[in-house]
Amino acid sequence: MARMARTDGVITPVKGKLGILMPGLGAVATTFIAGVESIRRGFSEPIGSVTQMGHIRLGKRTEPKFPLVREFVPLAHLDDLVFGGWDLFEDDCETAARKAAVLEPRHIDQVAGLLRTIRPMRAAFDPTYVKRLSGNNVIPGGRRDWANQLRQDIRDFKMRHGLDRVVVVWCGSTEAFTTPSEATLSLAALERALDENDPRVPPSLVYAYAALMEGCPYANGAPNLTVDTPALLELADKNQVPICGKDFKTGQTLMKTIIAPGLKARLIGLNGWFSTNILGNRDGEVLDDPESFKTKEESKLSVLHTILQPDIYPSLYGNMYHKVRIEYYPPRGDNKEGWDNLDIKGWLGYPMQIKIDFLCRDSILAAPLVLDLALFLDLAQRAGMYGIQEWLSFYFKSPQVREGLYAEHDLFIQKLKLENTLRHLMNEEIITHLGLDYYEPNAT
Ligand SMILES: NC(=O)c1ccc[n+]([C@@H]2O[C@H](COP(=O)([O-])OP(=O)(O)OC[C@H]3O[C@@H](n4cnc5c(N)ncnc54)[C@H](O)[C@@H]3O)[C@@H](O)[C@H]2O)c1
Repeated sequence: MARMARTDGVITPVKGKLGILMPGLGAVATTFIAGVESIRRGFSEPIGSVTQMGHIRLGKRTEPKFPLVREFVPLAHLDDLVFGGWDLFEDDCETAARKAAVLEPRHIDQVAGLLRTIRPMRAAFDPTYVKRLSGNNVIPGGRRDWANQLRQDIRDFKMRHGLDRVVVVWCGSTEAFTTPSEATLSLAALERALDENDPRVPPSLVYAYAALMEGCPYANGAPNLTVDTPALLELADKNQVPICGKDFKTGQTLMKTIIAPGLKARLIGLNGWFSTNILGNRDGEVLDDPESFKTKEESKLSVLHTILQPDIYPSLYGNMYHKVRIEYYPPRGDNKEGWDNLDIKGWLGYPMQIKIDFLCRDSILAAPLVLDLALFLDLAQRAGMYGIQEWLSFYFKSPQVREGLYAEHDLFIQKLKLENTLRHLMNEEIITHLGLDYYEPNAT
């Protein structure tokens, strides 16, 4: 359970507007904004969003109750969302959405009015962290100047739009692989590193610092180490702000965390799992750089190990070979194709194979996650929860957990955790599925 600033169980009611600020106004961010506007105007349905379409079971099975999640917990309404962000390219969101080419022109046309009003603020950017991109819309000066400007941007955005609250969701590129450095070992060290413009501090970390300093919850949609550094964990606790990450769980990893728990439940062995992708969007181009790919690879590889527990089941999973590749292939644009080959084994060790060919659309899968994360983080803050929000692991490839715990990757356990957190917040009975219905007629 996340830390609680209050123990009175009171959730501050939703009032006024909620701002959603995104570092990185590329494919995911523009598909998200365009989608919300399309839904608000009645052109589309919020498919893929738990906050909008999900129902939650409450109470005993003898009296079935399944309210909509958004009617059960007090979430910000779509009409009260205001969008903004930063990018090193000056394109407004209409132009960026057309370039990203996720949505068809007719869908962009329907919401172009809103999209063209959203212009990126100047980015905090250091090309050593994203080698394949260069743009001019950047904040001059060093890391302390970036932090001050980003904090001012958040305050101005709030003022300009008359907002009550703001959450920040990282939708920027995957940065080059970093390991924890001394510069981020404590908040004091980070403050010094910002003053000294220490190159070991990646831009993503400066955005998160600015958000937390302004009291804005922060979700990390990429695999960069950001809010999981000791410095920012300390800041999130100090300022009592909820945080979560990392790396949106879409596409191939989503499939992995659906299928692997099923194989494990039936004790079907696995000799190997080979995953490869072709994708041609800007994300693919960035990931073509080995340093950015390494960050992504770390995040993708951790999943199977935790679900299958080879230490506990050595004969089933002890020799499993797991390999993940991403290939940049421009003709595909955002419409990625993910191939998986699973070499599995059954009764008496007989080998079998499963092949998956997922023709997916990356940003279409990611957009509803941005919406849910923004609304749930805002809920968490109004409920007085702060620090790591492990109940939002459901949305991440590499879920953030408190030190000493292992991350839970099984999608179905993650969903149970999310729903039980909502039940707990609303003083409803937690559902454990433990009821013994042959002698307990009101079993849950
Ligand atoms: N689409 C998915 O399914 C998915 C899944 C998991 C994670 N992600 C991650 O989400 C992020 C966004 O993906 P995308 O497909 O929108 O990529 P994208 O390349 O279309 O958009 C990223 C944007 O971030 C901008 N950017 C880079 N560094 C920045 C900085 N320091 N400040 C401000 N802007 C910056 C880039 O200019 C670009 O416009 C990536 O890190 C990606 O790995 C995406």
